[in-house]
Amino acid sequence: NDRKHFYVCKEDDLADNEMVRIDPPDQPPVVVYKVGGNFFATDNTCTHGEASLAEGEVDDDFIIECPFHGGTFDIRTGEAVDFPCVLPLKSYPVTVEGGCVYVNLDEGKAPA
Ligand code: FES
Repeated sequence: NDRKHFYVCKEDDLADNEMVRIDPPDQPPVVVYKVGGNFFATDNTCTHGEASLAEGEVDDDFIIECPFHGGTFDIRTGEAVDFPCVLPLKSYPVTVEGGCVYVNLDEGKAPA
C-alpha cells in the first residue's frame, strides 16, 4: 500500500454522505468522504481541537461538521468555513480505479 496510491476501500463500501477514517503508518489520520457519488479526502483531525472528523456529519453541500464544537470545513478544499474552525485542513487527491478508492498521501495541500 504505497503513499501515492494508498488503498482506502471499495467504491461501494460508502453510501453518499458517508466517510471512512484511514490511519496511514507514517502520518496523522485522513478521512475519505463520498458526496454526490464523488470521493474527497482531508486530514481527519479538526484544526480547532483533537476531534476526529470521521465522527462528524456530512452535509449535502460538501460541508463536514466537527462533532466537538460544530465548526465546519469544505470537504473539497479543506478550507475552514464556520467558527470556531479557522485554520484549514489539508486535502488529498482521490482516484477510483476498478471499483477501488485510493488516496494520494504525498499530494496533501492546504488552501492558500
Ligand atoms: Fe472541531 Fe472544536 S475541535 S470545532
